[in-house]
Amino acid sequence: MKHKTQTTFTLITGASQGIGKALAENCAARGQNVLLVALPEPMLAETTQALKKQYPHQQFDCLGIDLTDKNASQVVLGWCNKNNYGIDTLVNNAGLGNSGPFMSRDAAFYYTQMQLNMVSVVMLTHLFIPLLEQHTKANILNVASMAAYYDIPFKGIYSASKRFIYSFSRSLRKELEHSNINVTVLCPAMVSTNADVLLRNKEMGLASQITQQSPEAVADYTITRMLKGKAVVIPGVFPKIYKVFGGIVPYPMKLSLLARAFIRQSR
Ligand SMILES: NC(=O)c1ccc[n+]([C@@H]2O[C@H](COP(=O)([O-])OP(=O)(O)OC[C@H]3O[C@@H](n4cnc5c(N)ncnc54)[C@H](OP(=O)(O)O)[C@@H]3O)[C@@H](O)[C@H]2O)c1
Repeated sequence: MKHKTQTTFTLITGASQGIGKALAENCAARGQNVLLVALPEPMLAETTQALKKQYPHQQFDCLGIDLTDKNASQVVLGWCNKNNYGIDTLVNNAGLGNSGPFMSRDAAFYYTQMQLNMVSVVMLTHLFIPLLEQHTKANILNVASMAAYYDIPFKGIYSASKRFIYSFSRSLRKELEHSNINVTVLCPAMVSTNADVLLRNKEMGLASQITQQSPEAVADYTITRMLKGKAVVIPGVFPKIYKVFGGIVPYPMKLSLLARAFIRQSR
């Protein structure tokens, strides 16, 4: 059971900008205390300060850390324990995207991408479940992508990593179905976050730009669905259409269409 003196938080990785920041703001607006974890860049402290100013009666703290570092997940856990932070929601959001021919990046890039998108999610989830178990009701929200539903040429490691998150989340949800922990996986399509994403969406053409969503809209829809205990969150009409499309178009045709679409944003 929960320690009486503990304040309970939502812990969000990649919370300094983009979807993670929007999730932090949305949770704060719902009255939650939030712990923000991201790279040790100025934006992390700025986002945290802004939340403290806007919600003076709630608690916020941040930890700057590279989650691809060995033992980073243990450091995050140690920080929570040292400060006696109770965690009832873990949001594994930090992730690294890219596009381009497989050989256009060095192997170290893919190693980092796999560490962040998959390994750190598994490590944090494993380390934090005992903390989540201390609460009457708890949530794990893992951020995958619409890419989880496809094999995507020129984005192969990214889409595979998101498929991993999707699969891991669905199976863990089943394992924990009789526990206090709900597991939700988020599968957004195009979200207007960082400059790199905006440029890639622009390169994919008008359809991509028209269908992209704001991080704030995605965050609000997602947190509402997570609190309802949904297994999968697909925010917006277009992502839902993409998913249906993926189920009906023959595989070779799908692969060719995706290759044509994603070679355009290859850099
Ligand atoms: N944007 C989209 O269209 C889209 C679509 C589907 C799924 N997603 C997924 O949604 C998640 C968030 O994407 P986003 O577009 O919001 O990303 P973003 O704007 O680039 O933000 C990424 C966040 O992760 C942090 N981060 C990056 N590398 C890290 C590391 N090694 N250690 C700790 N923190 C790290 C960043 O910290 P700094 O600010 O310090 O760099 C930042 O807070 C990702 O998992 C992504 O795959 C995004």
